[in-house]
Amino acid sequence: MTAQIIDGKGIARQIQAEIKTEVAELKARSGIVPGLAVVLVGEDPGSQVYVKNKGIACQKAGINSLEFRKPADFSESELLKLIQELNRNPEVDGILVQLPLPKQIKETSVLYAIDPDKDVDGFHPVNVGRMMIGEPIYLPCTPAGIQELLVRSGTPIEGANVVVVGRSNLVGKPIAMILVQKAKNANATVTICHTKTRNMEGFTKEADILIVAVGKPKAISGDMIKPGATVIDVGVNRLPTGLCGDVDFESAKNVAGKITPVPGGVGPMTITMLLKNTLRAARLRLEKKG
Ligand code: GUN
Repeated sequence: MTAQIIDGKGIARQIQAEIKTEVAELKARSGIVPGLAVVLVGEDPGSQVYVKNKGIACQKAGINSLEFRKPADFSESELLKLIQELNRNPEVDGILVQLPLPKQIKETSVLYAIDPDKDVDGFHPVNVGRMMIGEPIYLPCTPAGIQELLVRSGTPIEGANVVVVGRSNLVGKPIAMILVQKAKNANATVTICHTKTRNMEGFTKEADILIVAVGKPKAISGDMIKPGATVIDVGVNRLPTGLCGDVDFESAKNVAGKITPVPGGVGPMTITMLLKNTLRAARLRLEKKG
């Protein structure tokens, strides 16, 4: 039996259509057009692709996208000054500084300077704290996209054994925190595995939902997966043969019940959740005005 493929691209398209309708309704009701400022420093090729795709997705959804492209030698103080301006700009609802940043700029200094109410990436410690206590305003986009994929693919989460492989601040830790909450679409029993985990397979084979975000091609193979499990592959690894995930898709698809492909799984959901957060930010602007 082969696994059902979770169509992230199709699910993302559907949610983006819903967002487009809500953006139009907000505009008709209040005159507010959500605005997203994207800041790109330097010429990292991956980042350039992300930023271009974000611009296209915003335009399609009716969200105003402002791009700020700065040279690789842009200083930290110049960047902080730009962020202060964007914090004050009433037309800017969301601010996203594309990572990674060049070496001369300290990532945390920049992320902490963003107004938490405009932090549509959900990276500011205030928003991380809000997520931790179950009172989020913005969930980080990739973990939020994973939760949405689980829900829309009909995967039961409550009471499920979830194993997360990887403990990054971007994906592993936040997705574990989201799914462990006493809340709708959560309430799972969550285990986080990492590089020092002994007997990894002993954990992964018990997972009803296995989420893999380690940044290593094909780190998880079919023999490490519980038959019928839902497997979410967050990895995007560029190999000479093309893109590949952190899961060995060929062996995994014969064991899993459901699995996300790479590309076309988690990837398209990240931008979609960014649009959703930007819409939320615009509604927050309306509430504050109100
Ligand atoms: N670089 C790769 N993914 C992301 C993301 O989700 N947000 C930001 N700001 N930078 C990234």
